[in-house]
Amino acid sequence: TLNIDLSKPLHPVSPTLYGLMTEEINYSYDGGLYAEMVRNRAVRQHGWEGLANWRLVELGHSAASLAFDPTTGPSDALQSSLKLEVKQADPANQAGLLNNGWWGMAVRANTEYKGSFYAKADSNDLGPVSVSLVGDNSGDQLAAATSAPLTTEWKRYDFTLKTGNVATSAENHLRLSVGHQGTLWIDLVSLFPPTYHDRANGNRPDLMEKMAAMKPAFLRLPGGNYLEGDDIQDRYDWKKTIGPLVDRPTHPSPWNYQSSDGMGLLEFLEWCEDLKIQPVLAVYAGYSLRGAHIEPGPYLEPFVDDALDEIEFVSGDTSTKWGAVRAKLGHPAPFPLTYVEIGNEDNFDRSGSYEGRYAQFYKAIKAKYPSLQLIATMPLKRMKPDVIDDHYYKQATDFFKMTDHYDTIDRNGPKIFVGEWATREGAPATNLGAALGDAAWMTGMERNSDLIVLASYAPLFVNVNPGGMQWESDLIGYDALTSYGSPGYYAQAMFANHLGTSVPASSLTGAPDRVFYSVTNDPAKHTVDIKLVNANSVPQPVEIHLDGESKLAKSAILISLEGHTTAETNTIDHPTRIVPKMTEIKVPTGNLTHVVPPYSIQIIELKTE
Ligand code: AHR
Repeated sequence: TLNIDLSKPLHPVSPTLYGLMTEEINYSYDGGLYAEMVRNRAVRQHGWEGLANWRLVELGHSAASLAFDPTTGPSDALQSSLKLEVKQADPANQAGLLNNGWWGMAVRANTEYKGSFYAKADSNDLGPVSVSLVGDNSGDQLAAATSAPLTTEWKRYDFTLKTGNVATSAENHLRLSVGHQGTLWIDLVSLFPPTYHDRANGNRPDLMEKMAAMKPAFLRLPGGNYLEGDDIQDRYDWKKTIGPLVDRPTHPSPWNYQSSDGMGLLEFLEWCEDLKIQPVLAVYAGYSLRGAHIEPGPYLEPFVDDALDEIEFVSGDTSTKWGAVRAKLGHPAPFPLTYVEIGNEDNFDRSGSYEGRYAQFYKAIKAKYPSLQLIATMPLKRMKPDVIDDHYYKQATDFFKMTDHYDTIDRNGPKIFVGEWATREGAPATNLGAALGDAAWMTGMERNSDLIVLASYAPLFVNVNPGGMQWESDLIGYDALTSYGSPGYYAQAMFANHLGTSVPASSLTGAPDRVFYSVTNDPAKHTVDIKLVNANSVPQPVEIHLDGESKLAKSAILISLEGHTTAETNTIDHPTRIVPKMTEIKVPTGNLTHVVPPYSIQIIELKTE
């Protein structure tokens, strides 16, 4: 029996409870959300095994060679390039190079692709570059364009490729070629499909839409381990991620590949703007993953200053130095900012320096921005942080046992940010069993949403191609063409879309293990959302007894996510095996008896009159 008393509100629900967390992992940005189609565009990945993602093209009886040249590049940030030496070519027998994209390039009919590259030649006679999208097997040109003739100076060339009535496919490549003998150097080759909200240097629409459907309130950025980097020089150095792409040197992600930094700080913020959510800004706090740290004191000062500058870049108006830089980059309006996180998982810092590092950042940031809420990444002994970031990577059975974890935590202590959490079952994206673990955990977070101000599953994304995954158990999978949500993705979307403003008094009696619930209501909208989770193989009847509301509408909405086994899941080829289904149910006068199916996550949305 589930008793709910709407006349006894226990506490408000945090309006920012559910948010997003990901980072440059699993090809989340490069090869994922960030819509760039050219992989290794600035040729930062090359070695004894050759040039990653680039190969020589010799059409007809042309002859040429392709090599990495570390001596010349288009900018101070990008000081190297690809060198193409053409020994023999003519306009009908061109020589050039080809990029194979992120496990192919998605091409659709009647679509415009905008591209650019930087190049120079050894003479002014090499002529233009022919650019085309070509099919993998057929080698057919799907769209073509020609640049202006190259010169002996590094210059940027822009082009547009427009497809006709071609078949949709992901097995395509970008080819650049010339029809004259000579040498050319080329770098920072870029190609974008249409993006979400048509932003230049923007994001994939399908992935943005999937995130929007999760109804998030915030994005924790830029990571995770990605913030810290393996070593101090590999940290997320935000100043190197803003401005023209040609001025971004790129940097190694700790997840074993180079980040293009196309998803720079401003792009993160515009992502927030597009989804109408707030950034939760994590600033580098002087600790990197392999254990290097900076002691509190004068050596930490430059990092504190960097964080102050970063906060100003995000939230300062145009009269401030960094607000003016942001305006110059095209975004005069400041972004809203409430939470700043100092570091990431500093409990791994064996030097014990975090207390001092947090205190130093706290003092400097609060002096300038007293209203910002500053998140610590571990409990502190000497001071009370505003918020603490807790992380949980668990099995479903662990989460089933710990849904009451926050019920007894001191309400006079810091607030809680559950900044990373996930049931780690199923790969690449999680299965129904994981969704049940997630849902059980979310019922506990909702019940404690007076204490838990923010919560974000991590990580969100995974590229499902072989080699695309560094971290199993993610929520949204994709290849170059399509994407899909795991059962856990749908569980979160259901929870976040049915979150009231208040938690009323309630109790569940007589239920077996692995049955969970949460109730929130929204008096202004006249709704009561009852979430029920049955992580058992047998149905569970529940009698719902609602007090404190005289009149209920005669029908209610029931949303159900269910399956036959916990291993069931969605995949790139079968993206909708486990998806929520919506039905209308009758609401009798008196108690409502409802049977929760086996392995199911359900929401009953009641309307009061
Ligand atoms: O989400 C994956 C990783 O897990 C994050 O980068 C890190 O903060 C945590 O250890």
